[in-house]
Amino acid sequence: MLWLTLVAILIIPALSQQDPVREIHWASNPGCPDNFTRWDCNETQILHVMAKGPNDTINYLWAFYSKPALLMAVTEPEARLQIDWNQLGNSSKRLIRFDPQPTYSFGLVLDRIIEFYDPLDKADMTQANSSIVWDCRKFSWTVKDVTSGVENLRVELLGNNYGNGSKIGNVSVVLSAFGRDGYGPLLPHMQHSNNASQVEITLKNLETSEDFKSESRFGLQLMVVDSVPGEGMDEVFHRRSLDDEHTPGVFDINTLQTPEVRKGEAGGYMEWRPVAYTSPVRAIEESTSAVHYPLRNVSQAHLKGTLLHDFYGHNLAHVLVPQSLNISFGIAEDGFYDATKYNAWTFTMAYGQPPKDKFSLLVIMILAVGLGLPTVIFVFGGTYMCVKKCRTRRDEPLVN
Ligand SMILES: *[C@@H]1O[C@H](CO)[C@@H](O)[C@H](O)[C@H]1NC(C)=O
Ligand SMILES: *[C@@H]1O[C@H](CO)[C@@H](O)[C@H](O)[C@H]1NC(C)=O
Ligand SMILES: *[C@@H]1O[C@H](CO)[C@@H](O)[C@H](O)[C@H]1NC(C)=O
Ligand SMILES: *[C@@H]1O[C@H](CO)[C@@H](O)[C@H](O)[C@H]1NC(C)=O
Ligand SMILES: *[C@@H]1O[C@H](CO)[C@@H](O)[C@H](O)[C@H]1NC(C)=O
Ligand SMILES: *[C@@H]1O[C@H](CO)[C@@H](O)[C@H](O)[C@H]1NC(C)=O
Ligand SMILES: *[C@@H]1O[C@H](CO)[C@@H](O)[C@H](O)[C@H]1NC(C)=O
Ligand SMILES: *[C@@H]1O[C@H](CO)[C@@H](O)[C@H](O)[C@H]1NC(C)=O
Ligand SMILES: *[C@@H]1O[C@H](CO)[C@@H](O)[C@H](O)[C@H]1NC(C)=O
Ligand SMILES: *[C@@H]1O[C@H](CO)[C@@H](O)[C@H](O)[C@H]1NC(C)=O
Repeated sequence: MLWLTLVAILIIPALSQQDPVREIHWASNPGCPDNFTRWDCNETQILHVMAKGPNDTINYLWAFYSKPALLMAVTEPEARLQIDWNQLGNSSKRLIRFDPQPTYSFGLVLDRIIEFYDPLDKADMTQANSSIVWDCRKFSWTVKDVTSGVENLRVELLGNNYGNGSKIGNVSVVLSAFGRDGYGPLLPHMQHSNNASQVEITLKNLETSEDFKSESRFGLQLMVVDSVPGEGMDEVFHRRSLDDEHTPGVFDINTLQTPEVRKGEAGGYMEWRPVAYTSPVRAIEESTSAVHYPLRNVSQAHLKGTLLHDFYGHNLAHVLVPQSLNISFGIAEDGFYDATKYNAWTFTMAYGQPPKDKFSLLVIMILAVGLGLPTVIFVFGGTYMCVKKCRTRRDEPLVN
């Protein structure tokens, strides 16, 4: 019985896990013309990542020429990308196209970093006494490293020299694309499918405002939009996970669902654990909270000059529903940002349906022992009692 339970629990999920692997290909500044003068085509402004499956390709466009922006577009396997480099970031026309058109797309912009003054130590952005906005356009963004394999790609982006040196601090963004199901290599080890990318944002040594007397905390403002007209995303969907083996101490998973995902169809979504790390070590004792706030509809004006503007064009103003999402880091009595000068937060951005919780081997063993052992005791115990009773009965002297 115990073994049956174990075998069943182990084999059934393994059999249902058949999603094919996607092959990862990439190109830096695709189609950047030789005689282009505005930028050096050797310095990555746009990275085109293709996760090629048998029937479709998930294209990721990661752009660094304005505010960092990420677009995910699902196309036919051989769709061609065209970029009108000359007007990039400086037009309301559609300058970036796929031919044939994507069946679906979902985009995100890292819009602002928000520094807020929290003298009451609430770690709640909405209760801040005052705040300062760091516009992500004012960082100088440079690709530091690209590491690629057949099944994944990792890109390290550094933002520094804010406003030509008017503020000190580094923002590191690590982007990954995956062609196979799995878990992120670092805590919080986010689960991802083979249709997924991952973003890790680290705020390092940011110079806090003097007026805030070392009682500053930081947050991020993201903009999201998907290609389905007229419907925005709902609130962030929150679920409990049964197992914290991959992210010790954190049982919650937050999902930002596009309308398609909410309806049970394939669409874009973002997932994260409500945790951030305050040191590169990322141990459980170096963790703090990542708090999110309600979504808001925003005007497309925020997205001017970004990849999303160049991709969606005037649709962004007329038919699509751009929204913004705030996240802040910290918990009360943690000494504020200045205690560690380090906040790292991870999320996945993916296509399809969010991955289902899988039980880890440890949990399966515990379940098997927990459910199996009583069964064994019950069966054996029952048999023993029965045999004993029968025997006693047989041993009883026949009175009559
Ligand atoms: C760059 O070269 C193309 C043809 O190769 C030409 O059409 C275009 O006008 C040139 N642009 C500039 C800015 O010289
Ligand atoms: C770009 O890189 C190529 C090959 O590495 C090199 O030949 C070319 O001079 C570089 N262009 C610029 C503008 O640095
Ligand atoms: C790809 O398309 C073929 C034929 O339409 C279908 O049999 C197969 O299941 C599809 N594969 C995936 C992964 O959707
Ligand atoms: C942006 O477009 C305007 C008008 O179309 C032009 O005058 C300007 O030079 C462009 N700027 C850049 C950086 O290309
Ligand atoms: C911050 O705001 C709260 C309530 O709005 C107020 O009680 C407190 O005095 C303010 N603190 C500072 C330092 O301004
Ligand atoms: C930094 O300075 C350069 C040249 O002085 C200017 O072109 C650029 O716009 C400035 N960047 C920011 C973010 O202020
Ligand atoms: C930012 O990063 C660069 C390169 O990694 C490093 O040299 C510099 O010291 C960092 N600055 C801060 C304020 O951490
Ligand atoms: C955001 O826009 C959508 C579509 O126009 C609308 O249905 C929704 O009510 C708006 N949400 C808010 C909070 O205004
Ligand atoms: C995010 O925070 C900023 C600064 O406090 C605020 O202006 C903005 O409205 C907030 N956006 C959302 C979606 O909460
Ligand atoms: C991945 O994308 C394909 C469509 O290309 C979809 O059929 C599949 O359900 C997605 N997988 C997951 C795990 O969402």
